[in-house]
Amino acid sequence: MKILKSSSELKKELERLESKGRRIGFVPTMGALHKGHLSLLDFASKENDVVVVSIFVNPTQFNDKSDYKKYPRILEKDIEKLNKVKCDYVFTPDENEMYPEEDNREFSFGNLDKVMEGKHRPGHFRGVALIVSKLFEVVKPHKAYFGEKDFQQVAVIKHITEQMKFDIEIVSCPIIREEDGLAMSSRNMLLSDEQRANVSLISRTLFEAKENSKSLTVQETKDWVIRTINENPLLDVEYFEIVDDSSLEPITEWKQTRGTVGCVAVHVGNIRLIDNVRFYS
Ligand code: PAF
Repeated sequence: MKILKSSSELKKELERLESKGRRIGFVPTMGALHKGHLSLLDFASKENDVVVVSIFVNPTQFNDKSDYKKYPRILEKDIEKLNKVKCDYVFTPDENEMYPEEDNREFSFGNLDKVMEGKHRPGHFRGVALIVSKLFEVVKPHKAYFGEKDFQQVAVIKHITEQMKFDIEIVSCPIIREEDGLAMSSRNMLLSDEQRANVSLISRTLFEAKENSKSLTVQETKDWVIRTINENPLLDVEYFEIVDDSSLEPITEWKQTRGTVGCVAVHVGNIRLIDNVRFYS
């Protein structure tokens, strides 16, 4: 496994491998790797010859400076984990390498950044689109892997991949959960023991909502989820939306669309967690 900080070095190595017909799979991350990330690597290693992981805490996607500052950075531990799985290259650029100068590229997301994360985290998806397109330009993968916990992010990345005519297949991979149902996230390691003991209510409520939805309207289901999570004094729902799984438009009737996803963001102290569940697809 090679660890490289330089885009030009990585680009050169990968172009050489590509010219020999090797298929490149890419897993972009912000580090603090957990089993969810490792599952993406597992998909990438089964479907490609060369696996590349990037670790870069991208400042442009944080609308909240304190969230950026406290984001976990544990590179040595990440490298230890990557050494135990199939990973050929780890790209660990610094800020200067990714943003040598201001990049004013603009993207159009249609409706995709007007709802949920886009609405509550202004500028977040522009930052994600910016860094992902820069990474794609360096790695030029055949396939890139993203976790479905960030459901809206996957939709945005598919959209900009098409818009920018990147010849890359975006593969979205299932959410990996802890035993009690909590969706794996790098931010989970910031939770206190007390918070950790309470946050499984989020996924439990989503799973129950799926059951209850058979006898409730969309609005009743939404109200029930928000009320149930908010009943816990440690948790504070920022939004819960039930949306069409491709347009991300909120729905008002179950029969309105074939693929339906319920997406939630919850504040736990100063930590913000997201999760989602499919209702119908
Ligand atoms: O999902 C993440 O970890 C980040 O948003 C990504 C895709 C690596 C871009 O910084």
